[in-house]
Amino acid sequence: MTVLASHDFPDIAASISGHSCYSHFILSRYLDPEHLPNMVDIEEANVHFTKSNITAKWTAKEDLSILQLAEKAGLKPLFGCRSAMCGTCEVKLLKGRVYGPEGDFPKGIFICHSYPATAEIEIEL
Ligand code: FES
Repeated sequence: MTVLASHDFPDIAASISGHSCYSHFILSRYLDPEHLPNMVDIEEANVHFTKSNITAKWTAKEDLSILQLAEKAGLKPLFGCRSAMCGTCEVKLLKGRVYGPEGDFPKGIFICHSYPATAEIEIEL
């Protein structure tokens, strides 16, 4: 299980200014895929929310963030800014990988700007 972060790309991270969370988002979402080892764009993913025992299908066509997907599935996750700045939406990634900013606690992700990078994802929500 891996959450991409700016420390994975220190030379590039150093050239991006602004809030660290936003830098994480930019790095993980817009870098050339060749710079993201073992990660490829996927067309769909099963996202399982473990606390609520709900699984939702994410598709690249809809391109919902995991927060939006959770809301579409009827969940009511906490959120604030919805722009990877406040950290209110941070939850733990239990399985799989995502494109998006990492949180402050181990394996924490900000779901307002996280998108599946593997076909099977588990989120503690
Ligand atoms: S809602 Fe603020 S970081 Fe996600």
